[in-house]
Amino acid sequence: MKRINELRTPAFFQKLQWVADPVGYMEGAAQRYPDLFESKVADFGDSVLFVQHPQALEQILTNDRKIFSAPGHLNEIVTPLVGDYSIMLLDGERHRRERKLLMPSFHGDRMHTYGKLIEQLVERTLIDLTPGKTFTALSVTQNITLQVIIKVVFGLEEGERCQKIIQLTRSFLNFLNTPLTASFLFFNSLQKDLGPWSPWGFFLRTRNQLDDLLYAEIRDRRQNIDPERVDILSLLMSVRDDAGEALTDQELRDELMTFLLAGHDTTALALAWGLYWIHHHPEVREKLLQELDSLGQNPDPMRIFRLPYLTAVCNETLRIHPIGMLTFPRVAQEPVELLGHKLEPGTCLLGCLYLIHQREDLYPEPKKFNPERFLERQFSPHEFIPFGSGVRRCMGEALAQFEMKLVIAKILSKAELALANNRSVKPQRRGVVLAPAGGVKMVFLQTRHSAKAEERA
Ligand code: HEM
Repeated sequence: MKRINELRTPAFFQKLQWVADPVGYMEGAAQRYPDLFESKVADFGDSVLFVQHPQALEQILTNDRKIFSAPGHLNEIVTPLVGDYSIMLLDGERHRRERKLLMPSFHGDRMHTYGKLIEQLVERTLIDLTPGKTFTALSVTQNITLQVIIKVVFGLEEGERCQKIIQLTRSFLNFLNTPLTASFLFFNSLQKDLGPWSPWGFFLRTRNQLDDLLYAEIRDRRQNIDPERVDILSLLMSVRDDAGEALTDQELRDELMTFLLAGHDTTALALAWGLYWIHHHPEVREKLLQELDSLGQNPDPMRIFRLPYLTAVCNETLRIHPIGMLTFPRVAQEPVELLGHKLEPGTCLLGCLYLIHQREDLYPEPKKFNPERFLERQFSPHEFIPFGSGVRRCMGEALAQFEMKLVIAKILSKAELALANNRSVKPQRRGVVLAPAGGVKMVFLQTRHSAKAEERA
């Protein structure tokens, strides 16, 4: 049996680099150990294996719940954000039941309703942009994805409470926007409330204000139960455990927070990256426009969803920057062999999605944005894996892909945008995910309709 390759840097410095420069950390390790390595960045156990080999990932993730488990308590890094009762912290039968209950919210007929809303939101957002003025792509995409998720989670589209939830959610998440502030999640000793002006104090106060709104919504809903409603809050309120008990207010709050946060920021970041790459490579934009124009005026959202080049562009965006760098942790339940290494029971593993997507043997010239690679070759579910796999596979995958395609299609069809400068945008830590540093500065040139008219003139 082979020895597992261990990084020699002391644990504290590994963790420091992982927080400040996660890409440098992962790429440095993969240069020495391309398939898997033992890291000391996590707080659970002495060490954890980063796994970036597709067959190994398949072995781990398709045996979820049997040879490997996906324990909720190991995800406690997200508790300051989503609380103790989030689906991310659940496991076993309750985790399975809650996933089954909520999954239909992100599939099938529901998508049609969201499709209309997404298109309206993009139109409204574009009206607010001033020609010639710089804007940040991320704030535009956040605005759209937040309103979509509020509809999915609460069934709300407008109103004072809805506006306040939007505003507070943004400040709450923007707090984690730099490696320095994100470090508060990784080093528990920093989580000290030193008053409203201290970073953690600000974080807690913003969270309390957001909680007040969530609890107010829960209270109102308990008083006015409407069996026709299909939003996530209504579904969760119908849950009963074996003793016939409903979820408590705190359990409901934690799930609302989970879907509110996981359900919009990830997609907004992916969209900001998408807009960056499309405008960084004018030939990609041109090809997309040709494909979109071939559908004629106001095409059905499902036809947009099925467009091959648009799909390839979205996949390549998620390939090159998968937003989530890692899967949630998995733990070996029995002695097991992985790529010729013997793992003891209790060994903790993280699927490294970022490094899988950077493998030269799967993706030649991996730093190059090349959507064609997705047209020329089919990748297996463990070679291209931005949404993870197995029992914790992302619940919002279908919604996220639908949103990405529709928002990009609508923005490109309606607006001429450009990058504000030629500098390449680098990935930077934002909490537990990777974001485009600076949020991608862009300029709104004109509406595309008038651009076409000028071309003809
Ligand atoms: C581009 C957008 C997104 C990306 C890249 C993404 C990525 C991921 C990844 C990598 C995981 C962990 C999977 C694993 O451990 O195997 C995950 C889990 C999860 N995602 Fe997403 N996600 C996105 C959008 C969404 C959306 C829109 C929602 C909700 C509407 C959502 C809800 C969740 C939830 C609830 C989990 C935890 C599932 C569990 O613990 O059972 N995500 N996501």
